[in-house]
Amino acid sequence: MIGVFDSGHGGLTILRALMDRFPGHRYVFLGDHAHAPYGTRDVEAIYDLTRDNVERLFSIGCRLVLLACNTASAVALRRLQQTWLPHYAPGNRVLGVVVPTIEAVTEVPWHVTSPPHGQARAAKRVVVYGTRRTVESGSYPYEIGLRAPAIGVTQQACAGLVDRIESDTPEIEIAREVAGFVAASLAAVRGAPDTAILGCTHYPLVAAHFAAALPAGVEILDQPGIVADSLGLYLSRHPEFDAPDPALPAPRFFTTGDPAWVSPLASRFFGRPVTFEGL
Ligand code: DGL
Repeated sequence: MIGVFDSGHGGLTILRALMDRFPGHRYVFLGDHAHAPYGTRDVEAIYDLTRDNVERLFSIGCRLVLLACNTASAVALRRLQQTWLPHYAPGNRVLGVVVPTIEAVTEVPWHVTSPPHGQARAAKRVVVYGTRRTVESGSYPYEIGLRAPAIGVTQQACAGLVDRIESDTPEIEIAREVAGFVAASLAAVRGAPDTAILGCTHYPLVAAHFAAALPAGVEILDQPGIVADSLGLYLSRHPEFDAPDPALPAPRFFTTGDPAWVSPLASRFFGRPVTFEGL
């Protein structure tokens, strides 16, 4: 069983990509709706909440947990992997969404932490949209800079956008808000960007509004697809974490919040009916 965790239901964008590409695995999704959004919480709270929810997924029987949340991945993952997991569950694994995204944008594998010699990369300009805490963590510019310093990175925190997406705000209002964030980011970039990272798992749900607001020709990276492909490679190297099951098992969806409130809204975003269960 593969555990997929998010602060709310934005992580369903990642789960959907996983299920589309690798339908034979058994997935358990957990949304911490009782404590969402994480993007405005302090670092210690994000770490504690993420660890508690990973623990829950471990206790359900998932030995591999994917943090389908940029904020948790940027703020808590490294510390979880280095200081908690080796003592608590050394045979289990926790992965995130930032690493595969950095690899995709730099075209440099994660384990390489200095620019490869002799590989002159075309300079790119990348804009990263994320929650306040993801942007403050500096993870994207730092990790991209280590591997591909020619890439210029501009970040834009999209304060309140997750709340809007979670609370069923009319599309027209969301579109207006996204256009404002994009305009602010473009004013801060020197020259036109060529790549945009929607560095929050909720934002692909409103990717069309980002596409409409960004200049023509800017590529919006498909983070859910990138993460799914990366996890697929990981599973092919580590089949011990979850062998495909020919019975095509149905995923299960858990929330720390109110399933009656979460299920209809999440179904809309997931594009297929989802029934959440309480924990
Ligand atoms: N899913 C989170 C992320 O990708 C955003 C939601 C939140 O702030 O909790 O950053």
